[in-house]
Amino acid sequence: MESKTYNTEYQPTSFETSDPQYDAIKTRKNGKIFTLTRDKTGNGKTDVEDLEWHYLMGNGDFRSEEIKKLRDEADIIITNPPFSLFREFLSWIVEADKRFLIIGNMNAITYKEVFPLIRENRLWLGPTISSGDREFEVPVSYPINAAGWRIDDAGRKFLRIKGVRWFTNIDHGRRHQPLPLMTMEENLKYSKHKELHGKASYDKYDNYDAIEVPFTDAIPSDYVGVMGVPISFLDKYSPEQFEILGVTQRNDDPYKIKQYTKADYPNANDLNARGVIILDGTPKSMYARVLIKNKKPRK
Ligand SMILES: C[S@@+](CC[C@H](N)C(=O)[O-])C[C@H]1O[C@@H](n2cnc3c(N)ncnc32)[C@H](O)[C@@H]1O
Repeated sequence: MESKTYNTEYQPTSFETSDPQYDAIKTRKNGKIFTLTRDKTGNGKTDVEDLEWHYLMGNGDFRSEEIKKLRDEADIIITNPPFSLFREFLSWIVEADKRFLIIGNMNAITYKEVFPLIRENRLWLGPTISSGDREFEVPVSYPINAAGWRIDDAGRKFLRIKGVRWFTNIDHGRRHQPLPLMTMEENLKYSKHKELHGKASYDKYDNYDAIEVPFTDAIPSDYVGVMGVPISFLDKYSPEQFEILGVTQRNDDPYKIKQYTKADYPNANDLNARGVIILDGTPKSMYARVLIKNKKPRK
């Protein structure tokens, strides 16, 4: 992907300017394609010295016919697409039926273009990022209006981004390892989480036919019904162990058993967006939850 949004102070590298094909206008207007195909220098290794490049006809927008043709030739698409175009970029990959490894934000999981792919096991999370935030280098001119950035000793600017994950359809070993779990009774007795420890039972949603499981490690191994679990469960998801059924963010969910009207709880805001638990007569809206079922519930 070529830089479009940061173009105002765009400085071509000497790699480009020292090349006979360098064009001061095209460098700002056109995309560029870099190819590494063979040991061009003949030094016995294929490396950055062998990189070839040329200007594209257009600006490199992934939606252009020129880039669609490149996509169709590709075996694997690996990139960090702009988060604002994540849905569109993913649909663009899926329509061409390509293998992919792309970076996105965890929140993308609940999008209507993304969640069905997760449910159908056509998309899952990669194994190498599963918590915390990640640093991305940005051009020095990049306007920073968020917390969490730094400039290193060499003057390079980095932005810390939360909730980043790899989204992929390339298989990996972690997703075939089952999560070790305790039974419901054991969780209620021994859980390290104060929200569960010593409780008589797990909470049931008022508007979903499911129980609320507030932590992935507290999923009961023996529960046969539907469970609402944190979205970060997907970092541990194994399709042999669990079936993904829905997500509480989506209004078309078949496990939703109740729609609230303003008359139900006049003081509450939009209760229909999430799973709701009634505590002492007061509705409590939970975080977005993935609805799952254990494929082999056991004691
Ligand atoms: C998050 S940055 C990632 C840059 C680079 N791939 C990397 O990993 O460092 C996203 C890039 O997509 C580019 N971009 C934005 N809209 C685009 C579009 N419609 N088509 C192609 N690239 C686009 C932006 O200019 C930016 O360079």
